Amino acid sequence: METTAPSITLRDGTSIPQFGLGVWQMTDAEAEAAVVAAHNAGYTLIDTAAGYQNEAAVGRAIAQFDRDDFYITTKLKNEDQGYDDALRAFDASMSKLAIDTLDLYLIHWPSPAQDKYSEAWRALVDLQKDGRVRSIGVSNFEPHHLARIIDDTGVVPVLNQIELHPLMTQTANRAVHAEYGIATQAWSPLGSGRADVLELPALIEIARNHDATVAQTILAWHLAVGNVVIPKSVTPARIEENIGALELALSPDELAAIDGLDNGTRFGPHPDSF
Ligand SMILES: NC(=O)c1ccc[n+]([C@@H]2O[C@H](COP(=O)([O-])OP(=O)(O)OC[C@H]3O[C@@H](n4cnc5c(N)ncnc54)[C@H](OP(=O)(O)O)[C@@H]3O)[C@@H](O)[C@H]2O)c1
Repeated sequence: METTAPSITLRDGTSIPQFGLGVWQMTDAEAEAAVVAAHNAGYTLIDTAAGYQNEAAVGRAIAQFDRDDFYITTKLKNEDQGYDDALRAFDASMSKLAIDTLDLYLIHWPSPAQDKYSEAWRALVDLQKDGRVRSIGVSNFEPHHLARIIDDTGVVPVLNQIELHPLMTQTANRAVHAEYGIATQAWSPLGSGRADVLELPALIEIARNHDATVAQTILAWHLAVGNVVIPKSVTPARIEENIGALELALSPDELAAIDGLDNGTRFGPHPDSF
């Protein structure tokens, strides 16, 4: 069955689907097949990055359908920060994706040791002014990184993509995003599929109450709290299973129980030191 994801309106007036496919750690063959499977299951948002080295494969998959069927996000690698480097890197990503206009371009990490993320942000602001990209945002930005680019340019990112799953619910960062009107996008929404997350007894019980899977339960929680979510899977059955979360409504008590699982477990690196 094909399901359409709801959209969230971003602060620049555009809208983003609240549900999509992440393609990190996919080979070219896997990425091309997964994007086709996702399209067939009703996904529109695809999240890639220059650093994932599969933009061309994503481009080959989307070329099989209408461009308008997709909302495409890609990201600027740390090595390409700095104004001119960012403009060049954007062109390289666009030629690999083989599209004219990108939906969303993100700075992948602040990489503060390089101290170039604010310059990179100026490049993204200019790319948006030139109409090459509809929306611009960031990833892995802590509140002080957000404050810096906003102070330097006056332009607020529309979205911040951060590590967020039931063991790290990012309450403080989400509150800062809400103050600025920045959408929160959850990476590793399933905790990268780790048993520490997918086998939590509280989640197993909630899933059982709804005759759903734990993955669907976690994704339904993300959607209910307002996150944009991008689960990764190369497995067609899981690609379908995951979008089934759109059909699942958890009760306020169940949502609160999942909120309560937070223990600050971070699986990825800290943005201040990466
Ligand atoms: N901005 C950043 O710095 C950053 C960092 C990390 C990730 N991301 C983005 O976020 C996306 C998702 O994060 P992620 O890839 O780390 O992890 P994830 O989506 O939380 O989990 C993916 C893992 O869970 C498995 N899985 C998927 N659906 C499942 C299901 N229904 N039941 C059981 N297992 C399931 C997948 O296995 P199979 O693939 O084998 O099915 C894969 O091993 C990435 O692809 C990327 O686009 C961004």
